[in-house]
Amino acid sequence: MSAQTFDVQSVRRDFPILQEEVNGHPLVYLDNAATTQKPESVIRAISDYYRHYNSNVHRGAHALSDKATQAFEAARLKVSSFINSPQPENIIWTKGTTESINLVAHSWGRVHLQEDDIILVSYMEHHSNIVPWQLVAQEKGAKVIAIPVDEFGNIDLEALSHLLNQKVKLIAVNQVSNALGTINPIDEIVALARDAGALVLVDGAQAVAHFPVDVQALDCDFYVFSGHKIFGPTGTGVLWGKQNLLENMSPYQGGGEMIEQVSFSGTTYNKLPYKFEAGTPDIAGAIGLGAAIDYVSALDRAAASEHENDLLTYAIGKGEDFSGLTRIGRAKKTAGVFSFILEGVHPLDVGMLLDQQGIAVRTGHHCAQPIMENFGIPGTIRASFSIYNTMDEVDALFRGLEKAAMFLK
Ligand code: ALA
Repeated sequence: MSAQTFDVQSVRRDFPILQEEVNGHPLVYLDNAATTQKPESVIRAISDYYRHYNSNVHRGAHALSDKATQAFEAARLKVSSFINSPQPENIIWTKGTTESINLVAHSWGRVHLQEDDIILVSYMEHHSNIVPWQLVAQEKGAKVIAIPVDEFGNIDLEALSHLLNQKVKLIAVNQVSNALGTINPIDEIVALARDAGALVLVDGAQAVAHFPVDVQALDCDFYVFSGHKIFGPTGTGVLWGKQNLLENMSPYQGGGEMIEQVSFSGTTYNKLPYKFEAGTPDIAGAIGLGAAIDYVSALDRAAASEHENDLLTYAIGKGEDFSGLTRIGRAKKTAGVFSFILEGVHPLDVGMLLDQQGIAVRTGHHCAQPIMENFGIPGTIRASFSIYNTMDEVDALFRGLEKAAMFLK
C-alpha cells in the first residue's frame, strides 16, 4: 500500500477520542510525542481484563489467574517478536522508558561503574536519559559527558569518536529525539562503541511508533520504550537487554515475584525476566500494550511511516512560508516532530491560543533543557504527528498559528 492508499480516515475511526470537541472545536491532536491516543481495541482489552478475568498473575491456583497469566505472558511474547528479541525472557516490564533507564543505571551502573568511568549521552537526550546517569555517576565517582550536536540537530559523530576511550563504559542515546525529531544513526554509534569496548543503551520512546525496530539488527545492548507512546496505556514500558548483561545485573527492587527462595540466611533470585519484576505488575497495562502491538502490527507500517513523513514534509513546507517561523532541528533524517519558534512571541502563549482553537501541541523545553540551551532558546512549540493525523489538521495548525501571531503581535 502506498501513502496515497493509506486510509487515514479508517485509522481515525479506530480512535474514539478523535471525535471529541475541545473548546468548541473539533480536536486537532498534535501532541503525539507526549502521548499517543488509544484505539478501541486497546481500551477494550483493558476493560475486558477488569470485567471478565481480573486476577493476579503467576500466583493463583484458579482459572482466572491462569487466564490473566496467559494474557500477560502473551503480551510479553508480542513485544518480543515486535522488536525481534531473541527470546521473551529479555523483555522486562517497567512503568515506562524512565523506569527502564533507571533500572539499567541502578542494576548495571552500580555494579559495573567505577571511579573516573565515563557515560556518554548526547546533548539532545530527554532528562530521563541524563539524570539517572548523573545519579549513579555521583555515587560511583564516574562522569557523564555530553556528545555534541551540530547546528542542524545531528549528533557529531566525529566528536563522539574523539570522546571515546577505555574509560567510556556506556553510550546512552535516543533513536529519535523528542524535542527535534532527529533520527540518530544507531548503527554508526554502536560501531564506534564496539571499537572502544563500550555498551550502548538506546532510548526508543519516540521511535517505536514511527518505524519498525529490530534490536538484533541494531546490535545495541539495551533498548527501552514506553507503551503509551505506541497507542498503549500509560504506566507501561519495556526494557530489553542482552541476555548475558541482564543475567549479570543485580535486582532493581526487592519483593515478591523476583525471588527464588527467601530465607534469613540468604535469598536467591528468580530467573529472567522475573528477577526485575518485583511486586504485582501492571497486568491490565501489559495486556493493553499487547493489544496496541497487535494494532500496530496489523498496519502497513511502510505506508503508515510514509503518511507521517508526508505530514511532516507538508508542515515543514508551510513553515518555510510562514513569516517569523524558525524550525528548530533540521537533521538529515527526522521523524514525527515539527519543532519551531515564532519571532517575538513566547511558545507558551502560542500553545494557549492554539488550545483555544482545539489544537493540542506541547510548548517549552520538552524535558530536554540541554538541547534547548545548545540552540540558545528557552523552548519551542512542538507539533508531533501520528498515523491518524491529516493534512487538514496541518492546515488547521497553520490557520491557528496565523490567528495566534496576529493576536500576539
Ligand atoms: N517525553 C514526552 C514528550 O516529549 C513527555 O513530550
